[in-house]
Amino acid sequence: MTGAGSGIGAACAERLTADGATVVTLDIAGSVDHLIDVRDEPAVEAAFSTVVDQHGHLDVVVNAAGVAGGGPVHLLDAGEWDRVVDVNLKGTFIVDKYSALHMLAQGRGSIINIASIEGLEGTEGGSAYNASKAGVVMLTKSMAIDYGRKGIRVNCICPGGIETPMLLDLIDADGMELYRAALLDEHLLGRFGRPSEIAAAAAFLASEDASFITGHSLVVDGGFTAGMRVGILDQLGM
Ligand SMILES: NC(=O)c1ccc[n+]([C@@H]2O[C@H](COP(=O)([O-])OP(=O)(O)OC[C@H]3O[C@@H](n4cnc5c(N)ncnc54)[C@H](O)[C@@H]3O)[C@@H](O)[C@H]2O)c1
Repeated sequence: MTGAGSGIGAACAERLTADGATVVTLDIAGSVDHLIDVRDEPAVEAAFSTVVDQHGHLDVVVNAAGVAGGGPVHLLDAGEWDRVVDVNLKGTFIVDKYSALHMLAQGRGSIINIASIEGLEGTEGGSAYNASKAGVVMLTKSMAIDYGRKGIRVNCICPGGIETPMLLDLIDADGMELYRAALLDEHLLGRFGRPSEIAAAAAFLASEDASFITGHSLVVDGGFTAGMRVGILDQLGM
């Protein structure tokens, strides 16, 4: 479980542990089993070898490490682009690579990448973040094609706005009131999501109940991507 030190990753670790799994946690910060940077390939390789040596098998990997960032392209520094894409896309690739290597050896496994609705449709100023998450969606599909006949399922979850430090640091910052209200308005259920609601989706994809699901992007977004409200119901007083 990467990104397990906070937010969605921590909730996934808690949920899968409650469901009876032995969960090994990885993050660059926080109270986890392996303090590693997902961009550091030798460190990821070593951590996965240790996990398999200690536990004998690797059934499920949830990739939740990620960072926010971006901005309109003409204002975006190339170093900021690299930071966001390196963590979100390259880091996911590296973790998926060592997940696949071990799962190929055992002939089974389930990989769950945490992408975003912003990997499916654009949002204002999203640039690097959105591109990185679209990359995760396509990486997921490509891996599902490559490993389906090897017994490995590969799916991703596309969350809407979820109340974690990543989102709250942004929407609760000074001057972000309009952004917060506009973003909330896109969530048809009228609220942001809870990390446990993404963990529930991850638990489903990890389980035998999802045994025929691979290459899928599971949207868990409170209606964000369903479509737009245009005020007709307001006019009708509903
Ligand atoms: N919160 C949302 O609204 C939302 C929506 C869609 C997608 N997501 C995605 O969900 C995932 C989890 O985000 P979150 O909301 O829980 O945010 P978060 O900031 O609470 O957690 C992200 C975790 O990733 C870790 N991390 C960052 N860079 C890392 C690196 N290089 N190596 C290892 N770990 C690293 C952080 O230390 C942190 O613990 C991210 O991929 C994020 O893009 C979040």
